[in-house]
Amino acid sequence: MKTRMLRDIEVSEIGMGCMGLSHGYGKIPSEEYSIEAIRNAYDHGCTLFDTAEVYSPNLAGIGHNELIVGKALKDIREHVVIATKLMLRGFSVGSIYKTIRKHLEGSLERLQTDHVDLYYLHRMSSVPVEKVADAMGRLIDEGLIRGWGLSQVDVDVIDRAQQVTPLAAIQNIYSMVERDSEERIIPYCVEHNIGFVPFSPIASGLLSGKITTKTQFEKNDDVRNWVPQLSRANIAGNQPIIDLLQQYAELKGATSAQISLAWMLHKFPNVVPIPGSKNKERIVENLNAAKVTLTDKEFSALEAALNQCKVYGHRGLGGF
Ligand SMILES: NC(=O)c1ccc[n+]([C@@H]2O[C@H](COP(=O)([O-])OP(=O)(O)OC[C@H]3O[C@@H](n4cnc5c(N)ncnc54)[C@H](OP(=O)(O)O)[C@@H]3O)[C@@H](O)[C@H]2O)c1
Repeated sequence: MKTRMLRDIEVSEIGMGCMGLSHGYGKIPSEEYSIEAIRNAYDHGCTLFDTAEVYSPNLAGIGHNELIVGKALKDIREHVVIATKLMLRGFSVGSIYKTIRKHLEGSLERLQTDHVDLYYLHRMSSVPVEKVADAMGRLIDEGLIRGWGLSQVDVDVIDRAQQVTPLAAIQNIYSMVERDSEERIIPYCVEHNIGFVPFSPIASGLLSGKITTKTQFEKNDDVRNWVPQLSRANIAGNQPIIDLLQQYAELKGATSAQISLAWMLHKFPNVVPIPGSKNKERIVENLNAAKVTLTDKEFSALEAALNQCKVYGHRGLGGF
């Protein structure tokens, strides 16, 4: 697969979001299956794997997902980029550096590695971003992380952080139905050599066209019960977007999920989406979106048609 740069970190142009193997989309697969799925993604060209310390069933406990990712990538560690995230809760007294380093040490142990390639602050807390940026700079100098990032942030915060320690990547929600980052954030990132890593790029499954108003989500630990675009009324409202994707999927001999990913790869040179799936075949399908190229004419027509569609439901940068 072709590669893109998250500042000086080279990654496959589509990565793998590993969260669903531990949390967020109902029943989780066996550990054995999850490890196989991650290795299979690597065999199909994926070199960016995204996890977080909080990804555990029902967000209870710490590290379920990191443990799986660590086991899966241990033997091929030097060939892959591991991205993980820390959550700073509330106001932290004492040294921010020491607090962040303690979180990082836990992640390193679970991931069975001596460094994390990309270390994100998962959400802004009351800790000023400049202090976090300074601590991240020290961890880079010590060789414990290669680069750092922020998640769910706007340009003002990015700019303040960037002044202290240049960022490798911003991970915000972004898809054909969540376009808040397009106007200022992604262009800022392009200008400052910062990668942009969209999470939930398939809108939690909506843009695959496989979800209908009849789809029953799971009762336990399934974010689709509250993703705004996935209420019955909003699935129906968003049908023109699903139909548009289906039309392009037929035209290009691809799937709708692949078109939605190909669209963002075409649109911005610094975008590296991390679709998530609990299913080995779908993970490969999503990676193969990198082989679906839209011509400039196709992209413009798709973009123009998309701009005519009203989006029903909005999660935005404020939502979890
Ligand atoms: N920074 C943050 O705050 C944050 C927040 C959320 C997520 N993330 C990261 O972003 C990654 C991706 O986000 P996400 O998992 O929420 O959303 P997503 O990738 O937009 O969607 C995942 C959902 O879509 C379905 N799906 C995926 N590919 C499909 C395909 N080709 N055909 C049909 N259905 C498909 C999956 O179902 P199946 O499993 O059944 O295939 C799953 O239910 C996560 O794994 C995580 O690493 C970060």
